[in-house]
Parts: sequence; C-alpha cells; structure tokens
Amino acid sequence: MTFPLDRPANLAIFASGRGSNMDAIVRAFPPENSFAHVVMVMSDNAQAPALHKATALGIASYHSSFPLRKHDPTGHGRQVFEQAATAYLCHHSVDLICLAGFMRIFSAPFNDAWRGRILNIHPSLLPDFKGLYPQRQALKAGVTESGCSVHYVDAGVDTGPVILQRRVPVYPDDTEDSLAERILREEHIAYPAALRLVLSGQASYQALIREASCG
Ligand code: GRF
Repeated sequence: MTFPLDRPANLAIFASGRGSNMDAIVRAFPPENSFAHVVMVMSDNAQAPALHKATALGIASYHSSFPLRKHDPTGHGRQVFEQAATAYLCHHSVDLICLAGFMRIFSAPFNDAWRGRILNIHPSLLPDFKGLYPQRQALKAGVTESGCSVHYVDAGVDTGPVILQRRVPVYPDDTEDSLAERILREEHIAYPAALRLVLSGQASYQALIREASCG
C-alpha cells in the first residue's frame, strides 16, 4: 500500500491508558475529514480511559488481554491478542495503526505483516531515551532540551524511522511530571502532523529507511 490513497484512510488507535493522544487524533481527523478517520480503538486494558472515551464517541472499541512477557513465556497470550486485532483490523479495512500509549510489544510476524503501517509516539527525542520512563531518563542525563518523536514501528523498541519530532526546553527545576506535561502538549500537535505527512505520501517507511542509510 502506498499513500496518498484516493479515499480517506482508515485509522486504528491502540492505547493502554489515558488516551489524550487518541483524543488529539480523533479531533484532528473527524468523520468528515478527507484525509482520514478513526474507525476503531483497541486496548489490552479493559479499564483504559481511552477505551471508554472511544465508546462514548461512538467509535468501535475492542478489548483483548495481552499479558506481560514475564507472565506469557510461550507467547500464547500475545498471539491471542494479535489474532483478535488482525480480525478487527481486517473487518474495518484499516490502513494505518497508531500506537498511542500502547504498552505492549508486538511479535515479529505481526510487525512484518504491518511493516510501514504502524506508527508510535514516544516522549523523547529519539534515538535518546528509548523504553520506559524517558522523561526520568532525560532529567537524569541533565539535558536542556527534550521533546517527542513520532516514528514507524520496527522490530526494536522505539527504534523505527522517525517521521517528526517536536522540541521543548528542560528547566533546572523540572520534575518528571512537569516535563511530561510540557512534552505531552507537543505530542498532541506532533501526532496529527506526522499522520498528515504519512497520509500525503511525504514520509513513507521506505523513503525514511533510504534516507537513513544513504543520507
Ligand atoms: C504519551 O506520553 C506517549 O508518548 C507515551 O505514552 C503516553 C500516552 O499518553 N507513549 P496518552 O494515553 O496518549 O494520554
């Protein structure tokens, strides 16, 4: 599949928690938008506020358990989630998956099947501070600038090609919460902006990979 499409793209959002990025995407791409609209939301957490907000907005919302790796040594739980997700994604003819605070890692076959069509947002200027607690990592490192990155998902954790970043200052008296809040405001601008780049064909996975390897 290559973007732009000759019709609005169908977006799926996967979220484990609060869902403020989900909100920002839904607001940026309402049902009448010509670029895209959100056709489904899925969570591994039945109590996720994101799921309840999506239901209230009339968006098809789904839950399936996705146990942590340490509780799922054979990967069976992950497989059950991915099978359910695949059925819902196909049912809604989803073009692009947006991870927005989704706290689980997909298997290699799932990532391969959706390569170039899964986006994630991370609250740091990647490649710095991948993984958990990036704001804490940034404060510990003593950086004076941080931000957020929207990137394609690949086999690693927060390692895929970056589509767009937005920067914020880090102040000496910042706490993890104050920094997270400043970054989050930028996330709500960054995710819709990155989606516009992808959907208009200006930031394809292949082009970004090529740029990274050839300069
Ligand atoms: C955001 O900071 C996002 O970058 C990170 O998880 C947080 C999710 O927040 N991956 P929300 O659920 O979108 O409010």
